[in-house]
Amino acid sequence: METFPGNRHIYSYNEARRIAKRKLPHFIFEYIDGSAGSEFGEKKNRSYMTQIELKPKGLINIQDISTSQTLFKEKFTIPFGIAPMGMCQFVSTNADNYLACLGKEKKIPICVSTVASTSLERYWELSEGNSWFQLYVHSDIEFAKKLVQRAADTGYKKLILTIDVPALGRRPREEIAGFKVPFRLTPKIFLDCALHPRWSIANLISGIPQPGNFSKNAFDRSGGRGIIDWDFLKELRDTWKGELIVKGILNIDDAVKVASYGSDAIQISGHGGRQLASMPSPIEMLYQIKNEVKNKCKLIFDTGIRNGEDIVKAYSLGADFVMIGRPALMAIAAYEKKGLYEMVNLLNHESGLTMAQLGEIKISNLSMNNIYKLPFDCEKEHEN
Ligand SMILES: Cc1cc2nc3c(=O)[nH]c(=O)nc-3n(C[C@H](O)[C@H](O)[C@H](O)COP(=O)(O)O)c2cc1C
Repeated sequence: METFPGNRHIYSYNEARRIAKRKLPHFIFEYIDGSAGSEFGEKKNRSYMTQIELKPKGLINIQDISTSQTLFKEKFTIPFGIAPMGMCQFVSTNADNYLACLGKEKKIPICVSTVASTSLERYWELSEGNSWFQLYVHSDIEFAKKLVQRAADTGYKKLILTIDVPALGRRPREEIAGFKVPFRLTPKIFLDCALHPRWSIANLISGIPQPGNFSKNAFDRSGGRGIIDWDFLKELRDTWKGELIVKGILNIDDAVKVASYGSDAIQISGHGGRQLASMPSPIEMLYQIKNEVKNKCKLIFDTGIRNGEDIVKAYSLGADFVMIGRPALMAIAAYEKKGLYEMVNLLNHESGLTMAQLGEIKISNLSMNNIYKLPFDCEKEHEN
């Protein structure tokens, strides 16, 4: 296993979050950190994640340990990618650049949101093809189809259809703090900006981030995104020649149906707890869906990954790949590009350390056999 530098900035998610909170204007921090409603869903998922107990195993030669993982016949040297997140440029005026460079240099998937502040074409170029495109369908299906065509023409091979935002979830903390798109300079926001001069000057120089994939008024953030249905998925499957991933599934019936529609992967995700406070815990649903879907379709997992042990737990419960969201943004907010790279290195390193404790040398060998105890009911064992 690689040695890990002691002299660095990022030591844990919580520490990065603490620094991000200090450096960002309050309304931006609340946009990233906030969750839906009472935020119970996000907290419960984190609590389950923490309570899962792994089974340590000794006297195993782990010299050849590797955290690489293969998905869709592609080998990634790091076992996770970056989930799609809109408006990352609010965190740093260079955030999209850092993420794209990360994709290029580490060869990990960077998912580019429909509502990114950099165009999908530019992302592809900067990441040298290490990006996946994430589609939101807003009020105009024809516009969405054009976006898919643009992605295909650019060279994208992976398309993620996000289905868990039929309507934008209410995140009270961002509302209270005054976060609005388009950006509005109210007296409260002005004061918040004045208290964070470094952020404000950077945004004055670069200009407030704007949508990169469409003109300013073509997408109303608070408007509905609930016009697509199963027929749309079928049509998308018929037209998209690359891998199709359906993101935002927390329901066994939907998972089975999505697999039967020929999707290549299901992304089990609670959208970071940002859509439904009463959601079932995504980490529990990963376990349940794995039992039902077996190996008919790949399973990608996100929501609540905060350290390497969480990554190992997700793989042990049946994930074929993992994505992280807020850890990347908190790290950028705390220490810009070096923060992002250090966070990614830290999570990768911790994944290896955890595997060493379990006596496992390959991510693909992780299974329910590595789990000692689950905090939720489990009647059936996977056939891994
Ligand atoms: C600030 C922010 C913006 C997001 N924007 C999008 C988006 O545009 N499209 C999407 O599919 N998911 C979006 N998500 C959800 C993430 O893709 C992912 O599901 C979630 O962040 C994972 O949970 P985690 O933050 O606990 O790691 C966003 C999440 C955050 C925190």
